[in-house]
This record gives sequence, structure tokens and C-alpha cells, in this order.
Amino acid sequence: MNSIDKNKNTFALTTPLYYVNDLPHIGSAYTTIAADVIARFERQRGKSVLLITGTDEHGQKIERTAAARGLEPQAHCDEIAAGFQTLWQKLDIQYDRFIRTTAPTHEAIVKEFFQRVWESGDIYLSQQKGWYCVSCEEFKEERELLEGRRCSLHPNKEVEWRDEQNYFFRLSKYQSQLEELYQTRPDFIGPSSRRNEVLSFVSQGLQDFSISRLNVEWGFPMPIDPSQTIYVWFDALLGYVTALLDPDTEPTLENALSKWWPINLHLIGKDILRFHAVYWPAMLMSAGVPIPDRVFGHGFLTMNGQKMSKSIGNIIDPVALVNRYGADAVRYYFMKEIEFGRDGDFNEKERFIPILNADLANDLGNLLNRTLSMARRYCGDKVPPISGKDIPPDNPLKAIGSDLGSRVAQAYENLAFSNATEAVLTLIRSGNKYIDEQAPWKLYKQGNQQAVEQVLYAVLESVRLAAYLLSPIIPNISNDIYQQLGFDTNFNDKTQINVSAAFIIHANWGILPNSQTLGEPRPVFGRLELPETGSA
Ligand code: MSP
Repeated sequence: MNSIDKNKNTFALTTPLYYVNDLPHIGSAYTTIAADVIARFERQRGKSVLLITGTDEHGQKIERTAAARGLEPQAHCDEIAAGFQTLWQKLDIQYDRFIRTTAPTHEAIVKEFFQRVWESGDIYLSQQKGWYCVSCEEFKEERELLEGRRCSLHPNKEVEWRDEQNYFFRLSKYQSQLEELYQTRPDFIGPSSRRNEVLSFVSQGLQDFSISRLNVEWGFPMPIDPSQTIYVWFDALLGYVTALLDPDTEPTLENALSKWWPINLHLIGKDILRFHAVYWPAMLMSAGVPIPDRVFGHGFLTMNGQKMSKSIGNIIDPVALVNRYGADAVRYYFMKEIEFGRDGDFNEKERFIPILNADLANDLGNLLNRTLSMARRYCGDKVPPISGKDIPPDNPLKAIGSDLGSRVAQAYENLAFSNATEAVLTLIRSGNKYIDEQAPWKLYKQGNQQAVEQVLYAVLESVRLAAYLLSPIIPNISNDIYQQLGFDTNFNDKTQINVSAAFIIHANWGILPNSQTLGEPRPVFGRLELPETGSA
């Protein structure tokens, strides 16, 4: 079993591969934003990063959706997959690979992997009887079902009875190896509440599961029996492997696994934890492939406290949201307001708008604006001619700022996005308090130029550090702040960012170059008003 090499200079992470039964919803946007934040943070720290996302396009659910639209499945998939790519562009998601499970290279990888599992003796034919939820693409135990044989995740749909011969994967064989994995690598599943769920599920005894389907055309034929189609989850999880292939290389497992494997982090929602934390490692063990480092299952988003569902009509359209408020606002809200790992709520009027106005327009934006105007007036359009070292260590902003970079890095590493944001806000709020107390306009009138310069430097530098540490979340606002402070950094330039604004330098307090020419002050975030038409 592989151990985690913390010194590795590469970092590969994945979002789930989203079903193309419909256009992206806010849940898919949520995971993808979090993944992009981590990818940006790791790039700034100098890692070579591969962010993988994509679409899961096979199976009965997609087959039926396409048929209901009167389209060929491939034409339907092409349209929806393009919708995902458009949304990621709007949200400034810098993915490196977009894998579609209908890609021809993927079939080669699935076949080769299947062959390995077959040769391990882990596939056999048997009778599959049970209740199937097509929306989950998963068999359900009778005791898991709601009244009227409905799946708890899709209560508007009835499960369907299946009784057919299928090929099974010998999951039960991996019971003790999986238990050993969870014990020897306690960080493999996060957060700990989800780990406990998995431990409890596994301790009940693992059952083999079917990995082929009869009467489903839309998928890859089973290599050993083309009358059956490979189960969509077996196919989809392998999308993470196919995604690693460099363009134009031969689609073999050896090529795919040569550089980036094992994946450092699979980010997923809690509903698909079992697939990633139980089935997936067992499949990899069977094929003799090392296990990824970490699987993290985040919570579910609700809307005004209610489960989001099409039948209730309270689905948030992420495209409408980002069109109305911009990418940074949406990214900030979800990262700041919801503890990653727990369920969280979206409430446009009571939380979304007030929080963005308070944090970004008032606390951060106004602080920069007024400090910059004073610096331009009192210090001739330049950063005051002093350096961070000239400011005494008991200066309240320096005191908070000096270890902020390492605290925030720790929070990002732990996927504690709201803690990272809160820590930065403490510095910003202290900056506002400090400038009010010090009143540099009075110091200036009193002719105390040295004190004016110290106060303004300390505040400008704190705004810079805040912008830097928040740049994985709000890259456009951070760009704007950096430009107004006289830098020409572009936080969206992923090939350069570890050079032009490396974490090792920019995450420290006191690096704002003295006498750097300042830019024109302009608001970095306009106050939001509630749209008259109601919510997004
Ligand atoms: N296709 C599978 C994943 C295969 S990965 C090899 C799938 N796709 S999905 O599109 O249905 O779901 C993708 C993700 O969206 C899941 O991680 C799921 O948890 C997440 N969400 C779905 N609804 C959600 C919310 N209401 N809130 C947050 N995330 C939600 O499952």
C-alpha cells in the first residue's frame, strides 16, 4: 500500500465527474469552486497542480434523459457537457483536464482495468435481485427506502425492481484490507464524521456488487460478455485515471498512472462517499493500483433552509447567480459562509447580500479605498518610503499579520475555507479599527509625517496580505487590489503565479515595496442590492 509523500511537488485533485442528466446545479458549482480554491493555493505554493473535472455520461439515467428529449445520447451529452464548461469559465475555474467518460481513450482504460480485475479472479456471474434507483444509479436496501418505495435522495421517483444475471465484483474479499487502510491512514476519509459513517458501514460486512447491466445500451460493452454493459459507476470512477493521460499519448494504464498518480485529493459530496471510500479503493486493490491520498465528502446545500429540489422549485441556477453577482461574490459566499464538510444554506436576502456587502464592500473595499486616497495625498502617490522592518513588532497589524500566512495555509490544507477567510477578516477588521484610532489625517495636520507613513504603510500592507491570502477565493478582487497597490500581478495567470507572487514571499507581512507607485483608487466591490424579481 502506498504511503503519502508530503514532499511530492505535484498535486492532483478531482471534482466528481458530473452526470449530464441536466445542466449544472449549485451543488456541482460548490464542489468545483472548492477544488479550484485548493488548486490555486497549491500553485501559489509552487506545486505543479492538475485539477481534474469532467462529466459522467453513460448509464440508464442519461440514456433515458436523452430519449425523453428525442436526442441521440451522444448529442445530448455534448450539449450538456458544453454547459458545464461554460459555467466553469464564468466561475473562473482553472481546470487542467476535463474528462468526458464517452471519450474513446476512456474505453481503452476501462477495458485494461477490467482485464486486471478479471485476472485477479474478482469478477463472477450471479443473479442480481433488488430495488434500483436510476437517479442514484445504485441498488438500495429495502430498509433504506421511504414510504412508497422511494429513494431518500430522490423522493419524487420510485425505485425499480431488477432481477437479472449480472457480473459481480468481489468487494467482500477486500473487507480486511479496507479496514486496514482506514486504520493505517486515518486521514484517508474526511471529515471525521464521514469517516465514522464509512467505518460503521464497512463493519456491517461488505457485500459484492454488480458491475454490469442488461438492457442498458448506453455504456461500454463488457469485454468478456458484450451482451452486458459495464455499470456506470465502474466506468465513471476510472475517468479519474483516463483524465491523467497526456494528450496524444497511447491510452494505457501505465501511461495514465506514470506522473500524477496517486491522486492527492478526491473532493466529493457526502452522497457519493461509499463509492469513493469503499468501492473505489477495493477496485484499485484488485487491479494492483495504489490508493489515492484523501477523499473528502462535503455537505449538502439547502435553499432558505429547505432541501433543493426541482419539484419544490427552489433550485438555484448557478449561471443566473454568477451573471447577477459575478464569480468572486459567488465563490466568496460559499467558501466563507459554509463550514466545508457540513450542510449549509443559501439565503440571498438574509445572508448572501449582507455578507458580501459587509465583508467585501465595507470592510475590505472601503479600507483600501480610504487608505489609498490618504497615501496618495500624504505620500505623493507612493507607498510610504519605509519597510515592514521599520514597524515595531507590537504594532497591532504587524502582530496579527506576521503569522497569518501560516495559519491561513494550515486552514486551506485542512479544507477549512471558512476558517481561512475568518482569519483574514480579523486582520481587515483590525485595520479599520487601527486607522480610526490612529487618525492619520490628524497626524498629518500635526506635521507628524513619520507616524502618518507608519500607519498608512501598516494598513496598506495588511490589505495587500489579505488580498493575497484570499486570492484563491476571490482572484479578481485580489487582482484589483494588487493593481491599486502598484503590482502587475495577475492571479489568474496559472503558469506564472508561483513566480510573480509566490506564497513563500507574498504570504508574509511587510513585503510591500516602499515607494512603489500607487494606482488610482476605485471600488473593488460594488455594493449589492436585492433584485426586485426575488431570488436567483
Ligand atoms: N456522476 C456521479 C459522480 C461520479 S464521480 C466518478 C454523480 N454526479 S452528480 O452530478 O449527481 O453529483 C455530483 C456532485 O454534486 C456530488 O458530489 C453531489 O454530492 C453533489 N451535489 C448534488 N446535490 C447537492 C447539493 N444540494 N448540495 C451540495 N452538493 C450536492 O454523483
